[in-house]
Amino acid sequence: MSPAQKRVAILISGGGSNMLKLVESMGADHPARPVLVLANDPAASGLARAAALGVATASVDHRPFGRDRAAFEAALLEPLLAAEPDILCLAGFMRVLTPGFVQRFAGRMLNIHPSLLPKYPGLHTHQRALDAGDAEAGCTVHEVTAELDAGPLLGQARVPVLPGDTAETLGARVLAMEHRLYPAVLRRFAAGDRTPVLLG
Ligand code: GAR
Repeated sequence: MSPAQKRVAILISGGGSNMLKLVESMGADHPARPVLVLANDPAASGLARAAALGVATASVDHRPFGRDRAAFEAALLEPLLAAEPDILCLAGFMRVLTPGFVQRFAGRMLNIHPSLLPKYPGLHTHQRALDAGDAEAGCTVHEVTAELDAGPLLGQARVPVLPGDTAETLGARVLAMEHRLYPAVLRRFAAGDRTPVLLG
């Protein structure tokens, strides 16, 4: 990779479909390259999928650390810092990070969240949108700050809520938009442009 290209580490917890879209997007003239996919679960199926694409992988099981988030993060930092990332992308990474960890990567850590933030931070976003009777739902990419699912907006994509939607059908419609939104935001962000990407 050329010295001008940004080095991107992607953090996952599960299947990593967003991670795959990010990895696949970073070809040809893209201003970034994937240098590491890191999971908090050694069984995360996204690890094998990343390895099959030739990306370095690592995992640090959070469970032995119990509630000691700082100790877990210290272990997480070992493979992470060794990969010398310029940008961190949280992609379905389901652990809350401490302010100290967030501060270390201030201004260069992104997250994708399956709601139109500031609506519905946290979990069960699709069911909450349905329960509220919302006419539209969507996803958000934002810069990670110490506050959960907050931080400056980098992109947002909207989908309609359709009659008869369940959390599953709505979630699938939103996920398809996540797969378009996150690569578009990363490309722009890696080129130094923080203008929000708006889709839908
Ligand atoms: C995605 O929908 C992502 O937005 C969500 O988890 C899913 C991961 O899917 N993230 C969060 O809820 C973060 N709080 P993936 O592993 O297939 O990318």
